[in-house]
Amino acid sequence: MVVFVTISSAAQMVSPTLVSIMIDGVSNNDQTTIIYLAIAIIVLALVACATNVVATNLASTLTTKFSANLRKELFRKVQSFSAIDIDKYGAASLISRNTTDVSVIQNFLVMLFRIGLLAPTMAAIGLVLAVATTGQLALVLAVAIPVVVVVIALILIRASTYSVKLRNMIDKINQLFLETLEGVRVIRAFNKQEHETRRFDETNEEAAEVSRKSIAISGMLMPVVNVLFGFTSVGAMLVGSYLVAKNQLDVAALVAATQYINMILIAIVLLAVVIALFPDAYACMKRIGDVLQTEAQITDSQKDACQKTCKGTVEFRIVTFAYPGADAPVIKGIDFVSRLGETTAIIGRTGCGKSSVVKLIPRPYDTLFGDVLVDGVNVKDYKLDELRDLIGYVPQKNVLFTDDIASNLNFGNENGTEEDWKEATRIACADEFVEKKDGCKCQGLFSW
Ligand SMILES: Nc1ncnc2c1ncn2[C@@H]1O[C@H](COP(=O)(O)OP(=O)(O)OP(=O)(O)O)[C@@H](O)[C@H]1O
Ligand SMILES: [Mg+2]
Repeated sequence: MVVFVTISSAAQMVSPTLVSIMIDGVSNNDQTTIIYLAIAIIVLALVACATNVVATNLASTLTTKFSANLRKELFRKVQSFSAIDIDKYGAASLISRNTTDVSVIQNFLVMLFRIGLLAPTMAAIGLVLAVATTGQLALVLAVAIPVVVVVIALILIRASTYSVKLRNMIDKINQLFLETLEGVRVIRAFNKQEHETRRFDETNEEAAEVSRKSIAISGMLMPVVNVLFGFTSVGAMLVGSYLVAKNQLDVAALVAATQYINMILIAIVLLAVVIALFPDAYACMKRIGDVLQTEAQITDSQKDACQKTCKGTVEFRIVTFAYPGADAPVIKGIDFVSRLGETTAIIGRTGCGKSSVVKLIPRPYDTLFGDVLVDGVNVKDYKLDELRDLIGYVPQKNVLFTDDIASNLNFGNENGTEEDWKEATRIACADEFVEKKDGCKCQGLFSW
């Protein structure tokens, strides 16, 4: 990409020099030089165009693959997370990190590879050629470049403070949206639509205000830079006409010089546009980096429990458990044994922690104090896969995956036969309903 971009910018930057030689040719009535130069300019334009296309294609291939990989890594990482880690970020934030944040980074990389490489090479080549062809006139740039750079930097620094703020606001909006979707029944049952809408509106308007300020500041970039361009052109013309009057510069070189000055300043502005995207992309990179660097809190045991088949004894030894960030433990000093062949019922008022007790067995969470043992072995001493293979766990809140009925029935047992499904649906009293659906016996025909 660097090679193609360099060729492309060199081809673009040489043409003002050729035009200035052509103007000399016109004043000397040198037809052959004019024709050769015209052909050279056209060829260079074609070369610039072709190399630019190749560089753009390379950039898009690279960035799309990069973001696909990034999403894959994030997905894998989140799969390895325990419930504690997921609670730490929240579903809404994890979703926006995997979608919008990745796109923001991708857009930044596209701009970086296309313009971020092109602009500095353009400016460098332009500077060399400007000095070579016009000598003293290039001094105008010595004043113009620092002024443009300082002005751009001031605008960008101001704008960047808003981008990080905006990312967090968007997370909050996603969070509220997700809560509304998940809690839709509760919200309707208590007629809280107005309240929820107000809550959403407040956050949404706050985000819109931050966004407005950020756009207002970045929007100043072009008008201010245009004014500076105007001053620079006038300056170049004044200095140029003085030099032409003193016979130190010819008109053709003055034409080339003004073109170079413009091209260099345009390169700086293009670079500024790329840099302007950086704070937002950096905020996203950090957010994604945080997730990728999070070590799952519940991991495989180093020991091998060697327990491949479950006999069926579960024991709680003075177990205390609190959800991360909670003020008080939800389970305090629970102690019981559920033996092989027994059925143990845990009874209590709603919210007293029955489901939380069960959750400690397959380890989406770990105990705060005390031990949970399956067949006499501490659950922390099992490999996670092996422990979970031993357990049949039916969560209170059921989940259906976007797939056919068969795949949902087979979720815990890849090799389940039709007989197994029938048995499962019969136990769950779902057989009547499922059998009414014609396609359910043929996997893939019927989807929920
Ligand atoms: N992921 C979580 N993070 C923080 N607190 C939680 C979480 N899940 C449950 N809780 C809290 O822990 C307490 C016990 O919840 P749990 O679901 O275990 O109760 P339960 O006895 O199963 O209730 P129910 O009879 O309604 O099923 C509740 O106060 C609940 O709000
Ligand atoms: Mg429960």
